[in-house]
Amino acid sequence: MRASELRRAFVAFFEQRGHTVVPSSGLIPHHPTAPMFTNSGMMQFVPYFLGEEAVPFDPPRAVSVQKCARAGGKHNDLDAIGRSARHLSFFEMLGNFSFGDYFKDAAIPMAWELLCGTLGIDGDRLWITCHDSDDESAAIWRDAVGVPAERIQRLDKDNFWEMGDTGPCGPSSELFYDFGPELGPEGGPANPAAEHRYVEIWNLVFMQHYRRSDGSLTPLAVPMVDTGAGLERIVALLAGSASLYAADVLADLVSEAERVTGHHLGEGELSDVALRLMADHTRTMSFLVADGVIPSNEERGYVLRRIIRRAVRFAYLTGVDRPVLADMVGRCIEVMGEAYPALVAQRDTVLATVTREEGRFRETLRTGSALLDGALDELEPGAPLSGATAFKLHDTFDFPLEVTREFAELRGHEVDLDGFDVEMARQREGSRKAADEGGADRDERLDLYRRLVGEHGPTEFVGRETDHVEATVLGVLGSTVVLDRSPFYAESGGQVGDTGWLRWSDGSGERRADVVDTTYGVAGLVVHRLAEGVDTPSVGTVVDAAIDSSRRAAIARHHTATHILHWALRAELGEHVKQQGSWVGPDRLRFDFSHFEALSATRIAAVEDRANAEILTDATVRHYETSKEDALARGAIAFFGDKYGDTVRVLEAGRHSVELCGGTHVPALGLIGPLKIVAETSIGSNMRRIEAVAGTGPIERLRELQENLDAVAAAVGVPVEDLEAGVGRRLEELKSARVEIALLRRRLAQAEAGELADSAVDGVVVARVEAETRDDVRDLAVSLRDLPGVDIAVLMASPGGKGVAVVAAVDPSRGIDAGSLIAEAVAEVGGGGGRGEHLATAGGRHPERIDAALDIVRAKLAAGAV
Ligand code: SER
Repeated sequence: MRASELRRAFVAFFEQRGHTVVPSSGLIPHHPTAPMFTNSGMMQFVPYFLGEEAVPFDPPRAVSVQKCARAGGKHNDLDAIGRSARHLSFFEMLGNFSFGDYFKDAAIPMAWELLCGTLGIDGDRLWITCHDSDDESAAIWRDAVGVPAERIQRLDKDNFWEMGDTGPCGPSSELFYDFGPELGPEGGPANPAAEHRYVEIWNLVFMQHYRRSDGSLTPLAVPMVDTGAGLERIVALLAGSASLYAADVLADLVSEAERVTGHHLGEGELSDVALRLMADHTRTMSFLVADGVIPSNEERGYVLRRIIRRAVRFAYLTGVDRPVLADMVGRCIEVMGEAYPALVAQRDTVLATVTREEGRFRETLRTGSALLDGALDELEPGAPLSGATAFKLHDTFDFPLEVTREFAELRGHEVDLDGFDVEMARQREGSRKAADEGGADRDERLDLYRRLVGEHGPTEFVGRETDHVEATVLGVLGSTVVLDRSPFYAESGGQVGDTGWLRWSDGSGERRADVVDTTYGVAGLVVHRLAEGVDTPSVGTVVDAAIDSSRRAAIARHHTATHILHWALRAELGEHVKQQGSWVGPDRLRFDFSHFEALSATRIAAVEDRANAEILTDATVRHYETSKEDALARGAIAFFGDKYGDTVRVLEAGRHSVELCGGTHVPALGLIGPLKIVAETSIGSNMRRIEAVAGTGPIERLRELQENLDAVAAAVGVPVEDLEAGVGRRLEELKSARVEIALLRRRLAQAEAGELADSAVDGVVVARVEAETRDDVRDLAVSLRDLPGVDIAVLMASPGGKGVAVVAAVDPSRGIDAGSLIAEAVAEVGGGGGRGEHLATAGGRHPERIDAALDIVRAKLAAGAV
């Protein structure tokens, strides 16, 4: 059975049993409690598990095939990849869900029926585990399903599933397949030594609690069911193998890895690990990039970077010294594109991103190997490699400890493992501290917000129709207020939250509090943040809620402008341009997009011209709700990785731009006013950022520029129209003035030299002079020495009043070394330097000692001590 058939069979089985088929969500989860990546099928349903949103399915059951990544956070299988044939960092999870509908008594028999009935798996090879506390499930397996008691085992931690450090959780019951004695000892899944023999294929979680960040558990309103079966594991099992790499897509990708590396599975441990790892990581990187993750040094981007690098490194370890990822990713898109069309749509971006990252890393790899070789070279024979070096290689160059050990051992060195652990613990401590902060506060807020959504439903947003409304206060926490309805747009989709005010009256009169920001507390619940220290209305008060309408209008102009800019960039630069993020405020917009090079001034002008021509058509902006299918059929650009419900808002801005967008917009393009790009910068590899202004922004900018120009013109003394020529003339004048100054200086020096020459005794002048620069002192000394009647000139000055300059110029006929002549004097003024036979210059720090220094020189000459 191919994966595609299994997906269909699983979904059909549950659809026939009243489950709504829900498509996979993206790999970037959205719930505030969510970990880094979507790690299981339940994740997109968290708001239903926690009662934050009403369950939209009738009956409240769902079935899905969810793409998952277990590459960071609580569920992280990265380190096992390649070595284990059972773990994947990307996989598909088949799952059925009940949101307060059926429970254990129905979930357990359905799982059995699907596996042993529909898929024909031998029930005698299945083992069951249940949580120590869960007698009920064990009884259902034994009595209702008929599994012999000796194949039902009870475990503690292994049968308790949690989404992440916080979030829904509950006891679970797992199904294992026995692959037979060749793969391990007897004893069932409870025997840890038999983990290769008894392989988990399905996990039934009975969600009953919510784990708070302080570690405590609170009960969910109703018990729910969340099941997850590994698609790849079942496909492999049906193909008769315990190895996930033996069947279907992963087998195809292993073949591709064999082709590009020239190695074959079974040849040796290192190449086996490499081939499996390349197959696994290729899928993970392809899907992450397609869902909008970009390699970087932070969070998700960092995990993606590590995954790409690891694949490259393992290819390198097998002796491949050419890029391999384009082939691997190309094959992945071929074999998975049918099930995941977004992968095909994003093909160019995925290939370009992965290939560029690979290119950069191949450089790093060479440096890392060199670093390790260098560190090993420096060790005494048999001495251990320091833990700090091993950690640096692990952290910066992504050399796992085992690899460093392997390399080191080949050259007769061990690695200081304790030292490595110390470094690792230090790093972990750092990240744990960061995560703890703010946990408790967040719990209290989330508890309140969830309760409010549970009791009153989401906030009614009336801000598309009106600027102010009468509303009732539902909750107050600190300086934040929740209303039953609100004209305030809560920050989302890059658009900033509205500001405005609330007005109400209480016993002592009229009150008013400014709203300084608006955000979502939990999905659908608008939270108004009041200025610090102002009065807050009490729960139940009826308030007048009004937004600052002119600010909102300015935000709307910039938001619609962002869409036009996105279209203009794609039209001008190509379809690979993809929005990566945006920020829309009242005075400017920021737009981040994928593109591989800086935009030239001509390109920027061309983008501006396109955008402004489009704005000047004053075409209508249509903003309406429709089904997701309809929106996609109209060619709407969806922001990948974003969560969209079944009903979406489409924004058609003029003739070309169609995007999903929930923001607020102007009704016709002309209202955007002029659009001007004010900055274009790089924000990472292949990521650019544009900042632009619209509406009154360009006028304000123009005015500022005009004021600057006026000020400059006034300073130059010409009308603005003549500024260029005027500045040109001034520069010419400056140039000839400089020439003249230089000439005068020389003359002055000569005159001064003449005067000083008159004071020469036996051809020697030792004097203090006034000078602006050190060069002046040197020029003067040289001119002086070259005058008739002078052979030795020693001059000192404090140029511009800072420090000391000492110069000695000596005619060769005197046979005196200039440098030695002033050596002690230079020391006296606290200086250094000053070597040179005929000309020596030095500096010093103590102008107040110049006279003493001059005396030293005089005394030296008088004593003939040179
Ligand atoms: N959430 C559970 C798991 O991931 C069951 O779907 O194993």
